[in-house]
Amino acid sequence: MSELEVTRRRFLGASAATAGGVVAANKLARAAEPTSAAGPVRTPEMLDIRLEVNGRRHPLTIEPRTTLLNALRENLELTGTKKGCDRGSCGACTVHLDGRRINSCLTLAARCQGKAITTIEGLARGAELHPMQAAFVAHDGFQCGYCTPGQIMSAAALVEEGRAVSDDAIREWMSGNLCRCGAYPNIVAAIQQAMERGRS
Ligand code: FES
Ligand code: FES
Repeated sequence: MSELEVTRRRFLGASAATAGGVVAANKLARAAEPTSAAGPVRTPEMLDIRLEVNGRRHPLTIEPRTTLLNALRENLELTGTKKGCDRGSCGACTVHLDGRRINSCLTLAARCQGKAITTIEGLARGAELHPMQAAFVAHDGFQCGYCTPGQIMSAAALVEEGRAVSDDAIREWMSGNLCRCGAYPNIVAAIQQAMERGRS
């Protein structure tokens, strides 16, 4: 065998080894990638609970400290409920619990078992908007829209509470819902419209 032939064989052998190494490395990398089907890592303190959200029951496995807001957004992928301050100051996370408005960022998910939770996704009746949603659209009660789900959930509950008796009362009872865009006059007008439609 000529020296040239030996050198060529060595080159091909080294190339094959390198290619094999790349393939093996790729396989290892793929094996290490988390798959989307993998569930949460279970720790001894985790709880199995059921939440009834928008008329449907959902089994969940969560940490005891999981807030309702995180359970909705991260476990159930109901991202219509927004996270603003995450400390009870802005109202972006407002949902209904047995018909009452609450800040879901301040509420433990495990405490909501056996109660009816309604989020912005469950407010409309099929293709028909809830009157408060329709009023917000009619009055441009939003700009960026980030606070809007919380505003609408809070406003719908406020009308049910019978407290929206004047513009001042609406402003007072909606004061827990902040709007950085300053859409307040339109929000008050929307609530007035939804109230009047409810009366007629
Ligand atoms: S996110 Fe809950 S009050 Fe701000
Ligand atoms: S519409 Fe932008 S924060 Fe309210």
